Amino acid sequence: MKKVLFVCLGNICRSPLGEGIFNSIVKNKGLDDCFISKSCGTGSWHAGEMADPRMREVAKKHNINLTSRSRQFKTNDFQDFDLIIAMDRQNKNDLENLAKEPGEKNKIKLMRDFENNKQNPDVPDPYYGGENGFENVFQIVYKCTKNLIEDLENNN
Ligand code: 4NP
Repeated sequence: MKKVLFVCLGNICRSPLGEGIFNSIVKNKGLDDCFISKSCGTGSWHAGEMADPRMREVAKKHNINLTSRSRQFKTNDFQDFDLIIAMDRQNKNDLENLAKEPGEKNKIKLMRDFENNKQNPDVPDPYYGGENGFENVFQIVYKCTKNLIEDLENNN
């Protein structure tokens, strides 16, 4: 079983969406015995909360239920997960500063590295934006997650 951890800042918008999309795609492919994902945030402000209602609404429109509760990243996650996917460069930098060994640092990747036509390296934070921002984030995270899963399938 390969375990993937999606990480953003608050763990109420972008990374819960990554977790929901990832687990939905692997289930639909019958690969849920091979791959699983979870999510967390570099910050702890929203610990215990469900994903932002605006994010859940957009995910639901695309038939994906977001059920996770926010929690903060902990250093044990470097051992517990095979791959750690940061939503933006700040998240990646914060995680790299917590890594103690090169093996831990090597597990950290940027979400948009899995996008085909790379433009912006960061998944934008929709928290302070309008409704449109959430649909935009859905489209980005969906494409990247689909490619990430294909990569995992090919390298397994
Ligand atoms: P996320 O979005 O990192 O995608 O979950 C945010 C949610 C909350 C805050 C920042 C970003 N906040 O500052 O409370």
